[in-house]
Amino acid sequence: MQIFHIFLMFLLILSKNKNTLQGIGDNDDDTCVAKDECQLDKTSNYKKEFNVIVHEIQEARKSYTPCSVDIEDIECVCHLHVIDSDLSFFQKNGITRLMLNDAAKYGTRYKIYNHTLYRDSNCMFPSRCDGIQHFILKLLPELPDMDLVINTRDWPQISLRFNVELKAVFSFSKTKDYADIMYPAWTFWAGGPAIALYPTGIGRWDLHRQSLKKASQKYAWESKISKGFFRGSRTSDERDSLILLSRKKPHLVDAEYTKNQAWKSPKDTLNAEPAKEVSFEEHCQYKYLFNFRGVAASFRFKHLFLCKSLIFHVGDDWLEFFYLALKPWVHYVPLRKYPTEADIENMLEFFKKNDDLAKEIANAGYEFIWQHLRMQDVECYWRTLLKKYANLLQFKIEFDTNMIEIKSKSN
Ligand SMILES: *[C@@H]1O[C@H](CO)[C@@H](O)[C@H](O)[C@H]1NC(C)=O
Repeated sequence: MQIFHIFLMFLLILSKNKNTLQGIGDNDDDTCVAKDECQLDKTSNYKKEFNVIVHEIQEARKSYTPCSVDIEDIECVCHLHVIDSDLSFFQKNGITRLMLNDAAKYGTRYKIYNHTLYRDSNCMFPSRCDGIQHFILKLLPELPDMDLVINTRDWPQISLRFNVELKAVFSFSKTKDYADIMYPAWTFWAGGPAIALYPTGIGRWDLHRQSLKKASQKYAWESKISKGFFRGSRTSDERDSLILLSRKKPHLVDAEYTKNQAWKSPKDTLNAEPAKEVSFEEHCQYKYLFNFRGVAASFRFKHLFLCKSLIFHVGDDWLEFFYLALKPWVHYVPLRKYPTEADIENMLEFFKKNDDLAKEIANAGYEFIWQHLRMQDVECYWRTLLKKYANLLQFKIEFDTNMIEIKSKSN
């Protein structure tokens, strides 16, 4: 009898301890033992999934150290390790003239010679080239001579699977399977997707920063609509589950596809009429915003953070240079690639029930982008990248009469 009593007490203590340790979820039903009993069902027993999320957040916070203690961070130290890692492919043997000749077909050739910028006369996407040249032109007085090949397509070019002889090509986005050297996307200045709201293309990050900051103040956390939100075109079917969830549960998610240039029929918007575009600033009305890959990384990622909303970032393959300084669960909520509707719903329900945590992560994401993705950080990244790259060149740069001189646009 007594032994049984002690055993009961022991059980009681165990379950109590468990609840205080994991006490953020508000579900105290403890019947979920076998794995399939823990699956989501119609009565929404989220307990197990919720505890996993709490644990992830706690662990991420414990292991996070800010990349820069200096808020001014004039040397953009938060991002410099990306440069070293991208250039590490070339560290041993350097970059030869032959490697650049081989690389030329993957992008646009540029040359810096005697503090002047030259380019192939053709640029596949002129406004993208503008968005690149804007930064290089500013740096010319301090840059040494160099030849470089800059890819202005969305897709990276130098697959590690096929290129045993590495070619040095600059691209704005890549996955770990590519040896491309990441540079800050042209959209920091010009040449982003041209949509009805931004007819000349998304650009001018400096102006977007200011207007989004204002929008984040206009739509403070407590006044935001407690829903997931997404507007964008169907550049990847990875986005479908969110759209489908929105159609079933419009109280939880408002997500629709918009047209892009390739749109032909409602089939291209998952059998619905295309939705109207919504400005980044208007996104700030919602608490939970979604970022998916597009063709490569999506330009919207950086904008979304400045809403001070909670960012759900799907998949971790596609990178831009600044992604690696952001930490999942600290600055944003990671979702696995091709998330199911249940994955998304579960995560939204968790953060609706844990509003303080949602707000904290939203604020941390905002602060990081506000402090460490300034125009000056983009310029600093370009400067450091080009200087370190030039150090690896194994040949003397020569003037090339076939290239055109690129001059600053006076503004
Ligand atoms: C470099 O440019 C300056 C200024 O235009 C010029 O005076 C100088 O001769 C040039 N040097 C070479 C090596 O071309």
